[in-house]
Amino acid sequence: MKSFLTIFLAFSICACSGGGDGAPSQQSFAALGRKIFFDTNLSNPGGVACATCHSAEAAFSDPRHLAVSPGAVSGTQGTRNAPTIMYSLFSPAFGFSDEEEDYIGGQFHDGAALDLEQQAMRPFFRHVEMNLTNHETLRQKVASASYASEFSAVFGEATLSDAEQTLIAVASAIAAFENSQELQPFSSKYDAWAAGQVQLTDQERRGMELFNAPNKGNCAACHPSTGDDGSATRALFTDFTYDNVGLPANKAVNSSSDLGLYANTGRPSDVGRFKVPTLRNVAVTAPYFHHGLMKTLKEAVHFYNARDIDSSIGTPEFAENMNILELGNLGLTDQEEEDIVAFLNTLTDGYTE
Ligand code: HEC
Ligand code: HEC
Repeated sequence: MKSFLTIFLAFSICACSGGGDGAPSQQSFAALGRKIFFDTNLSNPGGVACATCHSAEAAFSDPRHLAVSPGAVSGTQGTRNAPTIMYSLFSPAFGFSDEEEDYIGGQFHDGAALDLEQQAMRPFFRHVEMNLTNHETLRQKVASASYASEFSAVFGEATLSDAEQTLIAVASAIAAFENSQELQPFSSKYDAWAAGQVQLTDQERRGMELFNAPNKGNCAACHPSTGDDGSATRALFTDFTYDNVGLPANKAVNSSSDLGLYANTGRPSDVGRFKVPTLRNVAVTAPYFHHGLMKTLKEAVHFYNARDIDSSIGTPEFAENMNILELGNLGLTDQEEEDIVAFLNTLTDGYTE
């Protein structure tokens, strides 16, 4: 697990080599990170934790199912939808891939954070999220938290006397939590099917075939239904690339100035491109897309099927460079749209027969 190595690198620059009984385990990092993730006192005013917008009951997306989430300061809100953070650790560090001949990976809808550690440093200080004044404020809050002694035991006594070291340690602990089994259980009906333990219903199987078929749904072109070894095992349903699927703006949340990947790279061809999200647990993470425009999976699938022929869908916001090759007029029947939705419903973790 790549991120865990980074954690040790971050750890080794802390003044904590005098730890005595050897390095703390990944479990103690993750357990501490979990406490920080759920701490509602790390915002200003208090009341908003990472878990407020990324709750286990909604696969670590916003359990209120809002298009955009309110921040700690009354009346503030962001302009993007809070995604699931399950399976996020599999996103490679943001960068240009020679193989894809394009940008891939990173965290956030536009890859603006290199990786999970970099990501975890941001929400605390964003005005529309947790609104802490500066790194020193975070240090003071962690130093007076119920888990402060555990924090010192894991990262060394000196860490909590330095704001920058505290921030690095906090980010490392959160990333360790995000690396834990709880966020990547691979326990959906699809996983049970891949392991040969359960059958799909006829409708789910038809939906899967439509999802995979290049001349039908073609969804797997960007949301691969196979894992590293080419089988269905441990499929992530994203290739972590970027695309402009030609969505209309969400006027209700003032998303219209969101240029996506362009804001990160400055390449004109990246206007309106957003990271391909995982579809794992998608049935419990409504609403959909970077601006939360669509409320149901049926709407989302219909969008792919009929963007170019159903005027009720609305005008694409950035039509100049949208994808016209792989989606927009798929020729699926209403029943076939329903079948794909039934298949997407098999991707929810925690399946029991
Ligand atoms: C007020 C709601 C809110 C809070 C609080 C919040 N987030 Fe988020 N989170 C979001 C939104 C919205 C995005 C997407 C933002 C973007 O793409 O620019 C996001 C994106 C992410 C991502 C990237 C996922 C991906 O697939 O790209 C991770 C990881 C994440 N948050 C973790 C955290 C952590 C850790 C904390 C606490 C330190 C936190 N969030 C606090 C709303 C929130
Ligand atoms: C050309 C690549 C591509 C293809 C093909 C594709 N998608 Fe996507 N998908 C994306 C991108 C990129 C996003 C994020 C777009 C955004 O938010 O602006 C996305 C987002 C989604 C979402 C929203 C998920 C969320 O958490 O908000 C759903 C649902 C979805 N796709 C389902 C499908 C289905 C079903 C198909 C086949 C009918 C399909 N996709 C085909 C690239 C693709």
